[in-house]
Amino acid sequence: MDDPLTTTARAARGHAYAPYSKFAVGAALESDDGRVFVGVNVENASYGLTNCAERVAVGAAVAAVARRFRRLVIVTDAVPAAAPCGACRQVLAEFGAGLMVESVGPKDARRWVLKDLLPDRFGPEALA
Ligand code: THU
Repeated sequence: MDDPLTTTARAARGHAYAPYSKFAVGAALESDDGRVFVGVNVENASYGLTNCAERVAVGAAVAAVARRFRRLVIVTDAVPAAAPCGACRQVLAEFGAGLMVESVGPKDARRWVLKDLLPDRFGPEALA
């Protein structure tokens, strides 16, 4: 039985645009004020222009003036449940390394604190 954020990520996954990889990803990102922003992967015929679901969710959140986040859930069909890619880890870490990241697949679920996925991140403090 999914928790509500997972339900949202799973529903979003149905809207993924992944005609090349066929690997659909749905993301749901909860801000500290309880709002939820979704993302899906958006692929492109020029493959390198693909956007991951996590980064699309971050973009939706920032555009709605949310910058502080509690939890991210991604849903895929991977076994074991897929960890976020390195580029997404860096983009998520821009907004804090304490984010709880959960990945749900058909066989298992995994969770991490972002700082364990990306130790010693390069963050905004370096530029202050
Ligand atoms: N993908 C994501 O959306 N998030 C990740 O963290 C890893 C990969 C997408 C990109 C591409 O559309 C497909 O999954 C296969 O790499």
